[in-house]
Amino acid sequence: MLKRLEELRAEATDLFGSASSENELEELRVRFLGRKSELNQMSRGLGGMDPSERKAVGQAVNALKKDLGAMLAAAQDRLAGGGGKPGLDLTLPGRRPWVGRRHPLMRTLARLEEIFTLLGFEVALGPHIEDDFHNFEALNIPADHPARDMHDTFYVEGDRLLRTHTSPVQIRTMMSRKPPIRIIAPGRVYRNETPDASHSAEFYQLEGLYVDRGVKFGELKGVLTRFLRELYGDDVAVRLRPGFFPFTEPSAEIDVECRVCHGKGCSVCKQTGWVELLGAGMVDPRVFRAVGYDPDEISGYAFGLGVDRICMMETGLDDIRLLMENDLRLLRQI
Ligand code: PHE
Repeated sequence: MLKRLEELRAEATDLFGSASSENELEELRVRFLGRKSELNQMSRGLGGMDPSERKAVGQAVNALKKDLGAMLAAAQDRLAGGGGKPGLDLTLPGRRPWVGRRHPLMRTLARLEEIFTLLGFEVALGPHIEDDFHNFEALNIPADHPARDMHDTFYVEGDRLLRTHTSPVQIRTMMSRKPPIRIIAPGRVYRNETPDASHSAEFYQLEGLYVDRGVKFGELKGVLTRFLRELYGDDVAVRLRPGFFPFTEPSAEIDVECRVCHGKGCSVCKQTGWVELLGAGMVDPRVFRAVGYDPDEISGYAFGLGVDRICMMETGLDDIRLLMENDLRLLRQI
């Protein structure tokens, strides 16, 4: 009887393996597993068997039943087009690959660079690890100057520090070239501040510097107004307030109407309707002397722009820290 079971198995393996239609499969199912099948009759005959044989034959019958069931299922899958893999549905849409995009901050930077390039500025870069001279001293911020308190500085070692603004690139450029100079210096800056929704220990600035004979304040105002209109449209409201920086005189702070609430007041503009975007002014004569220029012959303007704020207004993000966290769930949305 065991031999007969093996014959049945071999035969079934063959036939199930080559079955080519649903009908054929159904016939095979009836023949091998049906009520009148040989296997079923053997199964029913077990009761009348000698107990010494019954156990071995019973086990073999059950094993074959189980295997025949598996053969049937595999053949059904194969005929359904599943290539033998159960549960594979070839009609489902595929998974879309993630497409990489520029980080929103980098997009903002690229846009700013584009506008200033059109206005005739070229890009200049400087080191992130600066020294006291370029970051402070040459910019008319001596060691005991109160302005140093505003620049919570990360010191590296000795007089090495992480630059607290992009203004040292002004110094480096003026010391390595002669006027006329018309540059922008985009890049990351560092301040040892407790992070909150509007402060981060690292953020981006974009510095601008124009130095030549006879440069006047009106040109500064003109270029920045042109820039802001290019960025936000001709009807953007711009406001200049008197300001103070040790390296410019006179100095101004420049606000635009909040792009998120359009002046009504929201969390981005702290309910004022205005967002401060730029610090600017005429290069202080002391700075010219520090880089070896004659302030009686040369004049110029400088400005520094907060890139993160522009990016936040663009994306509607109200927490600057989100720009550095690189949470993909957020980045995919903007
Ligand atoms: N460096 C200044 C700051 O970080 C910004 C600035 C640049 C102001 C150039 C005037 C001119 O606050």
